[in-house]
Amino acid sequence: MATENANIPKFPFPRPESSYDPPAELKNLRDAGPVHRIQLFDGTNAWIVTKNKEVCEMLTSEKFSNERYTRQGYPEIHSGGKKGGEKPTFVHMDDPEHSKQKDMVESFFTLAAVEPLRPEIERAVDLLLDSIKERGCKDGPIDLVQDFSSLVNPKVIFALFGASMMDTDQLAGSSAALGGTSGTAGELGHTDLHEYLSSLIDDRIQYADRPERDLISKLVIEQYKTGAMGKDDINRLVYMLFVAGNTAINSSISLGILSLLQHPKQLNAIRENPRLVKQAVEEILRYHTPSALNSRRVAKEDVRLGNQVWQSL
Ligand code: HEM
Repeated sequence: MATENANIPKFPFPRPESSYDPPAELKNLRDAGPVHRIQLFDGTNAWIVTKNKEVCEMLTSEKFSNERYTRQGYPEIHSGGKKGGEKPTFVHMDDPEHSKQKDMVESFFTLAAVEPLRPEIERAVDLLLDSIKERGCKDGPIDLVQDFSSLVNPKVIFALFGASMMDTDQLAGSSAALGGTSGTAGELGHTDLHEYLSSLIDDRIQYADRPERDLISKLVIEQYKTGAMGKDDINRLVYMLFVAGNTAINSSISLGILSLLQHPKQLNAIRENPRLVKQAVEEILRYHTPSALNSRRVAKEDVRLGNQVWQSL
């Protein structure tokens, strides 16, 4: 729908460069009410939901769909967002298929499954920090994003899925690992990561009689061997999980460190009492809301949210 109203704000709103605080427009809209019209990159209109209650209502309502590839009107943020003919992962499916596929992998992301990885994660982070310290600023300033934040998630995720440490080092710097979003494999194109996963899947198939305890082995045994999923389906799913958290974690670490440096009182409080880190992380996630652009939906039917009636297309 072409916009007829030049007063409708263009979305996404830019962050102020000097502080990287959330855009001022968001606060203004939130103060004015929970649901507002916005204009997307191609001039079409969408709604933005700015208050917690209505956001939760939308994300849990069956009247909204996350089927990006089959439903007309799914809001895109930029022109390269969606490639034609792409097969979705569960991220862009609705229930019951969404839950069916999510259940296949969810056990790997519970607190009980992740907690035992703490020493390995701490070791990976310590190694990154040690190498930064060792290098110092003799070749110029350290780039926090490139030399630290962007490397943390790939290392953790690779460890979670049982890739060897050597492979992890090599792949953590790959374009897919660094550039990942909660989007899809198609957004990133065919990459070295795809090839690597393919060989990992082949390996797990070959040794299926002696399965490892990692996620790919589980998918091979429970899905591939029973004929429920093909190799490409497993590759697509695992690839999505490899790249899904990259941008969110990278941004959270980078913006979090920046915020603390800009607020020395809070930084000192954490130094004096490291148990405050948990609260600090919660606040950084709340304040910066990384990955906010990924919570998108399209209405399946006309539905009232806040003070607006959302019309299905
Ligand atoms: C700071 C860290 C993270 C933040 C802020 C974040 C944020 C988000 C947001 C906002 C969504 C969309 C929710 C929705 O629209 O319903 C999402 C979905 C998702 N994220 Fe993350 N994420 C983070 C880390 C990760 C990591 C590390 C992984 C990797 C394994 C991951 C995997 C996913 C998946 C698979 C979905 C789709 C869930 C579903 O469809 O049910 N995220 N995330």
